[in-house]
Amino acid sequence: MATLHGGQLSRVAKQYQIPEQEWLDLSTGIAPFSYPIPKIPTHIWQNLPTITDSLVNAAKAYYKAPYCWPLAGSQQLIEKLPELWNCKVAELNNIPLKEKHAYLPKVGYKEHQQAWSKAGYRLHFYQQSLPCDIQQNSVVVVINPNNPLTDAFTIEQLKQCQELCAQQQALLVIDEAFADIFEPEFSFIYHLTDLNDITYQEHRLDQISENVIVLRSVGKFFGLAGLRIGFVCSSQEWCQTVQENIGPWSINGPALFITEQVLKDKTWQVTQKMRLQQQSKVMRSILEIHFVGARIEANALFITVFLNQAADVYHQLCEQGIYVRLTDENDSLRFGIANETQLKKLQLALIKVISY
Ligand SMILES: Cc1ncc(COP(=O)(O)O)c(C=O)c1O
Repeated sequence: MATLHGGQLSRVAKQYQIPEQEWLDLSTGIAPFSYPIPKIPTHIWQNLPTITDSLVNAAKAYYKAPYCWPLAGSQQLIEKLPELWNCKVAELNNIPLKEKHAYLPKVGYKEHQQAWSKAGYRLHFYQQSLPCDIQQNSVVVVINPNNPLTDAFTIEQLKQCQELCAQQQALLVIDEAFADIFEPEFSFIYHLTDLNDITYQEHRLDQISENVIVLRSVGKFFGLAGLRIGFVCSSQEWCQTVQENIGPWSINGPALFITEQVLKDKTWQVTQKMRLQQQSKVMRSILEIHFVGARIEANALFITVFLNQAADVYHQLCEQGIYVRLTDENDSLRFGIANETQLKKLQLALIKVISY
């Protein structure tokens, strides 16, 4: 069965019989301020898309990555990874594995779980602490920061996990779809080498661990989810494997063109970070006033409110044309950050919502 996500306004609008244009959609963690789309030259539409060195270099500089490669959203590799990892493991062992294990956060973006489960992996769940006992050739998935919980593991914790994965010839996948709101040091990419600029020395690059893959999403922070573009940051060999296996044209030319600009535009990135943080703060205080005493976890891209009757509050909000994400556990509501106008609409709606 397909996993349920936010961003399914047509379905919800039909269910509540409110025209789509009357809704306030806060059901995703996509920034409400999006990068202004530049004029796209005609040749970009006319020619087949090419992944240029200048795009890859812009991404390396933005992510502080020794190696990276674009994807049609990080989702593309989430779905493809089990197949690629199975091939790697078969090469390592000369035969395919009989028992396959994947360790995943109990609460978190469910597409990882879906992909490994489909590929026949036995799933093990963790939450507060990373698994410390793992099977050989297994996979550990970390969502950092977690969506929807917002919590994050430290670099030390991730390094320990990486060490454990190396001992067991296991793969560590770190999904950093929401990491753009933090400083570069937050990202595991920054720690893939000991050097923190992009003038890496060859011998250091050889030492990048083969067992870590970091996934990044362009859609969320830049407010351009429709572009469908993300990046994998890893060793050169992994980037090569991905490149060879995703086909030549899965990301369209306009998306590649726009992405190069957004990754290079430092001024816009600084402004975006500041206004998202500011807006998240204001919105959090409004939610705190309404949901008195509720546990609220926030970052600059979404806010999660834990409630005894989350499903009921979700329903009350929907009745007023406010669409938020009821989490899979049915114990919380995740609110995407609202811009000023949207926030006013949300405040008015909240007055009529009875919370428990
Ligand atoms: C934690 C997480 N990872 C990955 C994705 C996939 O994002 P994309 O394919 O747009 O990069 C999402 C989408 O919501 C997500 O929440």
